[in-house]
Amino acid sequence: MPAPSPDSLNADTIVPFIADIFARRGAEEYLGEPVTISEHMLQCAELAEQAGADDATIAAALLHDIGHFTHEFDADAAEQGVDSHHEHAGARVIERFFPPIVTDCVRYHVDAKRFLCATDPEYFAKLSDASVLSLKLQGGPMNDDEVRAFAANPHLPAILQVRIWDDIGKDPDHAAPPFAHFAPVLERVVRSV
Ligand SMILES: [Fe+2]
Repeated sequence: MPAPSPDSLNADTIVPFIADIFARRGAEEYLGEPVTISEHMLQCAELAEQAGADDATIAAALLHDIGHFTHEFDADAAEQGVDSHHEHAGARVIERFFPPIVTDCVRYHVDAKRFLCATDPEYFAKLSDASVLSLKLQGGPMNDDEVRAFAANPHLPAILQVRIWDDIGKDPDHAAPPFAHFAPVLERVVRSV
């Protein structure tokens, strides 16, 4: 079955559409990390599942880097240069279909790193080399005002938890379950909106 076009996406077609992206684009490199983007996202979802997270949080872990593929959703996205802020682009393309806790985890997973670097001395020591390098480009640790504003987000615990899985889900020797394993979780979350 051919994938639906981005314009025709609805609650019935969004999960097959994302499945198709994972299938076609999943082998792409993950910015200096030892795993592919799809393997990374699947490992994050598995970590969420193993931790007993609820469906929305598992969906957030699975989709947090969907912004690397936003031009699949919108032909103009790449031209607008939104891929340089993949977290915001990712949140924009899924917010029609997923609840705010999912889109906030996607939108703020980079800021969460900046927040944790400012508030948790042990956190920085655990970052990969690629993640330390990108931190600089992302603005470095948050200042006090930024920390205060970020801490006011009602979804802060889920946002920080997804970030921690984001940092761990990069094991080249581990095979996570395939996308199909998580598709029913995404379907339930989409239906709950
Ligand atoms: Fe990630």
